[in-house]
Amino acid sequence: MCGIVGYIGSQGAYDILIQGLKRLEYRGYDSAGVALVDTDGCLNVHKAHGKVANLESVAAMGNTNGTIGISHTRWATHGEPTDTNAHPHVSQTGEIALVHNGTIENYAVLKKALTDHGYTFRSETDTEVLVQLIQYIKDTTKCSLFEAVREALLQVEGAYAIAVIEKGDPDTLIAARKASPLVIGVGENETFIASDATPIIGYTDRVIYLKDNEIAVIKRGEPLSIMSLDSNEPSKIDIQKLKLSLAQLEKGGYDTFMLKEIFEQPATLRDCLRGRITDDGARVVLSGVELNKDKFLECERITLVACGTSWHAALIGKRLIQDFCRVPVEVEYASEFRYGNPVLGPKDVVISISQSGETADTLAAIQIAKEKGAFVYGVCNVVGASIPRNTDAGTYIHVGPEIGVASTKAFTGQVTVLTLLALALGQLRGVIDAEKVREVATALKAIPATIEETLKCDAEVQTLSRIFTYAHNFLYLGRGYNYPTALEGALKLKEISYIHAEGYPAAEMKHGPIALIDHEMPSVIIAPSDSLYDKIISNVQQVKSRGGAVVAIVSKGNTAMNDIADYCIEIPSVPECLTPLVASIPLQLLAYYIAVNKGKDVDQPRNLAKSVTVE
Ligand code: M6R
Repeated sequence: MCGIVGYIGSQGAYDILIQGLKRLEYRGYDSAGVALVDTDGCLNVHKAHGKVANLESVAAMGNTNGTIGISHTRWATHGEPTDTNAHPHVSQTGEIALVHNGTIENYAVLKKALTDHGYTFRSETDTEVLVQLIQYIKDTTKCSLFEAVREALLQVEGAYAIAVIEKGDPDTLIAARKASPLVIGVGENETFIASDATPIIGYTDRVIYLKDNEIAVIKRGEPLSIMSLDSNEPSKIDIQKLKLSLAQLEKGGYDTFMLKEIFEQPATLRDCLRGRITDDGARVVLSGVELNKDKFLECERITLVACGTSWHAALIGKRLIQDFCRVPVEVEYASEFRYGNPVLGPKDVVISISQSGETADTLAAIQIAKEKGAFVYGVCNVVGASIPRNTDAGTYIHVGPEIGVASTKAFTGQVTVLTLLALALGQLRGVIDAEKVREVATALKAIPATIEETLKCDAEVQTLSRIFTYAHNFLYLGRGYNYPTALEGALKLKEISYIHAEGYPAAEMKHGPIALIDHEMPSVIIAPSDSLYDKIISNVQQVKSRGGAVVAIVSKGNTAMNDIADYCIEIPSVPECLTPLVASIPLQLLAYYIAVNKGKDVDQPRNLAKSVTVE
């Protein structure tokens, strides 16, 4: 939530900041701003509600000179998305500018104290309180900007990644973080800071992931200095090499990132599977499991924690682990788990699933699980993010940057890794026979090609989407492995087309939601030829006999549904446990085309942000 970019070096900062903000817009896009100190020491601030493009129009009318600057793209938490509430926020004296990602929980108390000291506030944000506090400390103690920032942060409760610059000092940029990510890019005579590495790519591949409670002082012409906020002791500077390329951040000829990400799933799943199944398909090898065999052998229960789409993947993971490993499995929303006083101990394994690796609720759930002695395993996409750095071990899904806010390739990557994990744990605990491993692993190896085949339904789904563009409600129904697929299909439609959609276990429908069905309520029914196929046929009949239109996702060659459903989309046949991977493809496309038909911004749907780093 919210993206920060900062720069100090020899190039004009403005263009670098704007370009960087555009790459971070997926984190929030309701307002944006930039602050620069020019060579005369003047602080120039430009802000605008709406997307970065609006900011560019506003800034074009002002002074954008300077080789140092900070910038921000916002996802509102405190105060509406207006020009005034946009970052950077500037202290009352006009001397200090600050951008912030996170939430200051004790802002009301601090604001009251500052108001008593005569400070007035322009915005409704928690961030303005922090910049005023820094100014207050600096003025009253006559300390340096660094000391004032450090002292202010010691008084703040909550989460933050911040960047600060000061009028009259074109040579100093200060950055700090606690529970919100911040990356430093180390170039030749230039330094970048950003909420993730994407604004830095193309300038340098040398990065430092700032740790919690660290503050960095970046001074022109001097070595970078990083200190612990608590002890003021210097931290070890650990420069890592980035493996991302610019091409991964571009649309590659597609109209949107979401469509590109849907179509690149065969390639991303090849990357995800690489080296994880032996050539003969007989064994699954995950280093995170190999290195922690004792934990997985001793464990008596596995709990999966996640949010949103990752939670849907977790529900599929539960079925997979139960089926192949025969260990009790629970699935929890991270936001509920963290406040649910969970009963956990050293015989528990908690698996956290997250695309971004920065979701605040999932991070908090991990913390609680660790405090209670559980072994915590992460399934994450973004390399080096907070979740992989805070878990005991884990497996990356390696599907590359996902920029569309609606998750697609990360979902299939997560389900793929959870399938591998379930097989690996089943092998390790000796509860799955070699033949079953070979059957599933061989089909999983072929999944990239199977998905390539599935994507051929694109034109058919696009045509179908036109029939349903103006529906106001949708039901998505599935059973067994595909109940979570139904939830995910419904979430995709809601997120990008703003059509109300509910995912439901198909057999549960008759206990309530069936009352909703009439000729205006289409149902999408996931009905591959699996062990529950005959059961789901009766559920389809129940919908049809109440006048509802049915779109059925069926296995290729199964024509039985043709006479019952209004529209059938065929998917290739795969083992039952892999059907969510294949069935989710037409659902992604259906949501996509309905949203496009409605003229919606699919990559940046309203009110959402890619990475939810607040509670
Ligand atoms: O980065 P994470 O996987 O932890 O994010 C979790 C959810 O915020 C995310 O899946 C969200 O639901 C997506 N917008 C779904 O498309």
